[in-house]
Amino acid sequence: MKRSIYFFLLLLGPVAFAQTPLNVDKEFAFAAKQYELMLKSHPDTTKFPQSTKPDGSPDDRKSDWWCSGFFGGSLWHIYERTKAPVWKEAAHKWTMAVAKEQYNTGTHDLGFMLYCPFGNGYRLTKNPIYPPILLTGAKSLSTRFDPKVGVIKSWNKFQNYTYPVIIDNMMNLEFLFWASRVSGNKAFYNLSVTHADNTIKNHYRPDYSSYHVVCYNPDGTVAAKKTAQGYADNSAWARGQAWGLYGFTVMYRETKDKKYLDFARHIADFYLNHPNLPADKIPYWDFNAPNIPNEERDASAGAITASALLELCTYGGPSAKTYYQSAVKMLESLSSPAYKANLGENNNFILKHSVGHKPQKSEVDTPIIYADYYYLEALLRYDALRKKPGF
Ligand code: GLY
Repeated sequence: MKRSIYFFLLLLGPVAFAQTPLNVDKEFAFAAKQYELMLKSHPDTTKFPQSTKPDGSPDDRKSDWWCSGFFGGSLWHIYERTKAPVWKEAAHKWTMAVAKEQYNTGTHDLGFMLYCPFGNGYRLTKNPIYPPILLTGAKSLSTRFDPKVGVIKSWNKFQNYTYPVIIDNMMNLEFLFWASRVSGNKAFYNLSVTHADNTIKNHYRPDYSSYHVVCYNPDGTVAAKKTAQGYADNSAWARGQAWGLYGFTVMYRETKDKKYLDFARHIADFYLNHPNLPADKIPYWDFNAPNIPNEERDASAGAITASALLELCTYGGPSAKTYYQSAVKMLESLSSPAYKANLGENNNFILKHSVGHKPQKSEVDTPIIYADYYYLEALLRYDALRKKPGF
């Protein structure tokens, strides 16, 4: 009897214990169906899908909200996969809906707002109307860089501070590198390097976790290190760690300076080795949230991190396999019913369970558009890697 059970388990083993392989076709088929419903429920391109309100109704925002580019960007991801003209048309429509933000000098978020839709759109279609919009946007963004301070200003005010810089700002640099290449204007490149170097100097702790907000004095010295969206000034807000990881991985891609690669690896190691990272590898909203394990997860941080790791692993090194396998685990978790919505539910967003701003009780355990954007990007990266020899 014992022997036969053993034999049966042996036969069953690979099936029973193997992780469900990610099926990119299936995930994109679902995303397309869900976003068909999202498009139907959003006929007006001045109302951008963002999240869900506490009463369960859709929370839409205007084009000047920092997330306005993620819906168009997500539609481009679906077009990239399906190549169907209907997605190209929808993506173009929602991309152009953000165009007026190219003149917006009041935010540091133009990388998210413009490069996610127009950058992906241009990469996929070479539509000549996109680059001038991007280049105007890059100029607008660069007006927020004061060379005496050496960083791009994020918000105009935070508490009593007038030059706050958030770690999220690392995500705008990819846009400026693109602008530098296309325009030949090296200033965009140089200011990005300066911003990144000062971020290494001032935003990171010895364990490679990041503060959320660093407030600068006019001479570039640091006035205060704070949090806005994290649990505490000294805590590791999960999405902030993800933004930094993604940002420094891009810094290495764009400059080939090994110091950025080493830095991104340190951030990845902090994140992946953290004792509070759950087994499914989707973090709590803050690694130091006080009531872990009774705290909300942040699927958006998981999606951003998966995408960043799928780039970082391509640069080799002793941890490349760990980065790849961890990213796959994150994508498997996000693609499971624990995080992925049912068709027609979740206000037609793909992923559930993100946290926007817990201290303000805003977007707590809701879908958020950027979780979908980075999840789809990570699926595309995963699929591209799987087709490469050695992965
Ligand atoms: N402040 C941008 C974010 O919530 O990640």
